[in-house]
Amino acid sequence: MEPAIEIRDLRKSYGDVQALDGVDLTVPRGSFFGLLGPNGAGKTTFINVLVGLVRKSGGEARVFGHDVEADYREARDSIGLAPQEFNVDRFFPIREVLEHKAGYHGIPRERASERAEEVLKRVGIYDKRDTRFDWLSGGMKRRFMLARALITEPDLLILDEPTAGVDVQLRHELWETIVDLNQRGTTILLTTHYIEEAERLCDEVAILDSGRVLDVATPEALMDRGTDDVVVQLREEPTAVPDFAARDDRVESVELDGTMLVVTARQGGLVAPEVVSLLDDDGHEIVDLEIRRTSLEEVFVEMTRQGEERATPEVSSS
Ligand SMILES: Nc1ncnc2c1ncn2[C@@H]1O[C@H](COP(=O)(O)OP(=O)(O)O)[C@@H](O)[C@H]1O
Ligand SMILES: [Mg+2]
Repeated sequence: MEPAIEIRDLRKSYGDVQALDGVDLTVPRGSFFGLLGPNGAGKTTFINVLVGLVRKSGGEARVFGHDVEADYREARDSIGLAPQEFNVDRFFPIREVLEHKAGYHGIPRERASERAEEVLKRVGIYDKRDTRFDWLSGGMKRRFMLARALITEPDLLILDEPTAGVDVQLRHELWETIVDLNQRGTTILLTTHYIEEAERLCDEVAILDSGRVLDVATPEALMDRGTDDVVVQLREEPTAVPDFAARDDRVESVELDGTMLVVTARQGGLVAPEVVSLLDDDGHEIVDLEIRRTSLEEVFVEMTRQGEERATPEVSSS
């Protein structure tokens, strides 16, 4: 079976701006995939190519095997999009907006009304069904965007920064709804610059920067690139501690400050038991242990910073 999204050497330029500069990406069916990148990285452009709002300058893009240009209808009908910007008919009751949308995608009128009710209930704004979009609160507008994306029961749900500017509680409610959809088999493509969101939700993350994919991996694998701190609180101040680095080459540094020992290592979670057992062998009593993992954020900042450094010589030579 074809993957949900298959992209080869995708390019898009706006005049001199290379918004997408040769992107290769495969999003497997059923996955919860994150596209993580700073503002201007090309995330929205990428999505707009998939849904036919932007014409690519080069490369290939397929959705469930359908070319997004040659087989536009098939590709587009399989996608539900909650775009970053609100683009809604503001003057109709939201229930009608949903029914029109369903009709546009070929869903018969009666079924369309049922679907509209279902999705409004699902996102928790059924009691607002006769209200105009304009009159909804900011949070309800976000919920409505999700409802509209779901009206066609899409196999691929694309969410472009769905929780930007949304309060914590609504963010968590939206996450729950999306996770539930994914568990029922919907493929999710989520763009975000909230690292926590990618870390919590996605099984795979592509880091996009300046129109290029820097890396694709699970959030855990990305975090393993950074170092963690194993922080040990000892009962008494030691005169010497074991040579952890000699015993494990994942250990990068060791610092002792009074009774507090900090061992900095890659894969801190795996190194910690060894630290404990070496201390124990030497007769040190441990009163507290904490592992401070590198966040995906630190890894992300590091990766995109390196990207900037790579880009600098080109700028200065021109
Ligand atoms: N319609 C457009 N015309 C000109 N430049 C654009 C247009 N849309 C996006 N860009 C530029 O393309 C780059 C990528 O933008 P975008 O895809 O919106 O990034 P992101 O969604 O990651 O913030 C940016 O440099 C942006 O200014
Ligand atoms: Mg964007």
